[in-house]
Amino acid sequence: MEFSSTLPLHRPLLGILTMDDPAELFRGNRSNFIDLIRTGAEMGVSVCVVTVKDLKPGHKKIIGYTYDSASKQWSQQIIGIPRVLYNRIPQREDEADPEVQRTLQAILRQPQVRIFNPTFFNKWSLFEWLNKAKTTARYIPATRKLTASHELESLLKLYPSVYMKPISGKAGKGIMKAERYVGKLDRKTEYALSVQETKGSVVYKYPKFSQLWAKIKEEIGREEYIAQQGISIVKYKKRPFDLRLLVQKNYKGEWDVTGIGARLAGKMSITTHVPRGGSIDDPEKLLAAAFGPEGTKRILGRARKAALAIARQVEKKSGHMLGEMSMDMGVDVHGGIWFFEANSKPMKFDEPQIRKKSLERIVQYSLYLIRTNQAKTGGMPAGNPNS
Ligand SMILES: Nc1ncnc2c1ncn2[C@@H]1O[C@H](COP(=O)(O)OP(=O)(O)O)[C@@H](O)[C@H]1O
Ligand SMILES: [Mg+2]
Repeated sequence: MEFSSTLPLHRPLLGILTMDDPAELFRGNRSNFIDLIRTGAEMGVSVCVVTVKDLKPGHKKIIGYTYDSASKQWSQQIIGIPRVLYNRIPQREDEADPEVQRTLQAILRQPQVRIFNPTFFNKWSLFEWLNKAKTTARYIPATRKLTASHELESLLKLYPSVYMKPISGKAGKGIMKAERYVGKLDRKTEYALSVQETKGSVVYKYPKFSQLWAKIKEEIGREEYIAQQGISIVKYKKRPFDLRLLVQKNYKGEWDVTGIGARLAGKMSITTHVPRGGSIDDPEKLLAAAFGPEGTKRILGRARKAALAIARQVEKKSGHMLGEMSMDMGVDVHGGIWFFEANSKPMKFDEPQIRKKSLERIVQYSLYLIRTNQAKTGGMPAGNPNS
């Protein structure tokens, strides 16, 4: 990597915060970083990658990594600490590291630096937060922490199917679905357990709850799990789908829905993740097949409204400044909206319009933060090492 000055420092400066890496200099999704650097350049904002290691308390000058699209090369240069940091530390384990936490807490205490999305969410906290407000509780499936068998047993008495998900899970890993049904032979209650594997899911059947629980315990191991009311989500050509919304702050610092995508489940899958056989599709087309054009409009309107209420409540309860989150929502067969999860480090949206807008919004929100923070701290131009 070159040591040169390619980052125009008279411009507002946005730092993408990530982990350092002994071999690669820094971690994270490079093509994602490059897209943001490029968008920044088009909008008059200098964007560079900075590492947690460099931002240790006391450091005044740090390394900023930037990318030159013309020469297709990364380069590094010494910069002052950017006034706005966009947290993209890729792994939960890294972010939870005590050393990293100390640095993040120190940055959060500095009034001249504003960091957004400072933490990953966990699924249990999300449900606790969202259940506390009337405006959001109505979108939340009944959820319990899966600490003992009776939590699942009582949910299975209320609902014919229950999803079990690791609290810190992602991309469908470790997800199971338990179902209660009436057996064909002697009309007694029996149970089925679907376990999400790499592509499809595997189904086990048990005549007794105790047998079902034994298998679940074996699958769970030491992970923390939630158990949740299963929603009969609407299907398109026999495949369930859900909505994926991107909610971001705009140039006024207000929450706004950037776009809505849809994920259609793989044939044999209990989730809709693309790496597990799911695919991207057009939400209007999928919804219209079940609810017609008018119903579709209504449902998408309700999904937007839900997403904004949820983003506000999550931000309030998390106690941190957030700039974006993605949300997975289900639509039931009656057109009702259900919240499944929110992610504070959204994966990129492959829908081109959503992608483009999402990058612009990050830059616009960063500009908003720089502007409002300068007004507050009587600030100096950001990023100039001489300032
Ligand atoms: N309570 C539920 N009822 C019906 N389907 C669910 C439920 N919870 C999750 N799913 C399905 O599983 C998918 C993955 O669940 P999610 O909570 O997003 O976990 P992950 O973090 O692994 O993505 C959802 O997008 C949805 O399709
Ligand atoms: Mg998900």
